[in-house]
Amino acid sequence: MTGATRADGRTGGRDEEERGMGQQHDGAGHGHGGHPGEVRHDREFWEDRYRSAPQVWSGRPNPQLVDEVGDLAPGRALDVACGEGGDALWLAGRGWSVTAVDLARTALDRVEAAAAAAGPEVAARVRTERVDIATWDAGDGAYDLVTTHFLHLPPDVRAVAFARMARAVAPGGTLLVVAHHASDLRTTIGRPDLPELFFDPEDVVAALDPAAWDVPVAEARPRTATDPDGRAITIRDTVVRAVRRA
Ligand SMILES: C[S@@+](CC[C@H](N)C(=O)[O-])C[C@H]1O[C@@H](n2cnc3c(N)ncnc32)[C@H](O)[C@@H]1O
Repeated sequence: MTGATRADGRTGGRDEEERGMGQQHDGAGHGHGGHPGEVRHDREFWEDRYRSAPQVWSGRPNPQLVDEVGDLAPGRALDVACGEGGDALWLAGRGWSVTAVDLARTALDRVEAAAAAAGPEVAARVRTERVDIATWDAGDGAYDLVTTHFLHLPPDVRAVAFARMARAVAPGGTLLVVAHHASDLRTTIGRPDLPELFFDPEDVVAALDPAAWDVPVAEARPRTATDPDGRAITIRDTVVRAVRRA
């Protein structure tokens, strides 16, 4: 899928790969009304954002997912904050049975449409559920892979949400957390000036019981992106892959 329309109405280009953070904030051009300085994380914000364009993200899987999960044997996967399902469909295409969850019904409708378009085998392996991950019980040990990309929540909510995700990983299973790294704030990529919404790999690892988890990957991984002025720049992703001891 190419030529995706961004949430801000621009189309195509490599920066269609850039997953936005979803927070409304004064002066950063994400305006949907609201009050100066207001930061929103609610369902209405995300539903509006998805309704603002027929397609917001590229439809392609995130590169860190491909790199970190490509060699794993398929099993049961949970994609948290799945958006329009680029990752979920990629996983299903590789044989994973995927539960794709998101706050926004509009996004999940697109996941279901894309899964149906991918054919009956893929569609049969994708189940969607509208949830708020901060309050949803994913089930202890229910998944061989729990993955989340670009879910940026306030620290208190983030702690609860990530603890839920970790609990949902089965013994021997994998937790993959990918997010925009705080160092992006010092680049021209245009992240919102809300440092509390960013987190380091160390923050994710610190919340995992070292007796129960191995952490083969915890890094601020560079990748190339295009900034709003069309310049190729280096940004970084927080990438943590952790394996729950069997
Ligand atoms: C930047 S998008 C990333 C989407 C997808 N992971 C991707 O990489 O294309 C963030 C997603 O998080 C979802 N989200 C935000 N808060 C959430 C919450 N509390 N529970 C579940 N999903 C949430 C939004 O609806 C949105 O689809």
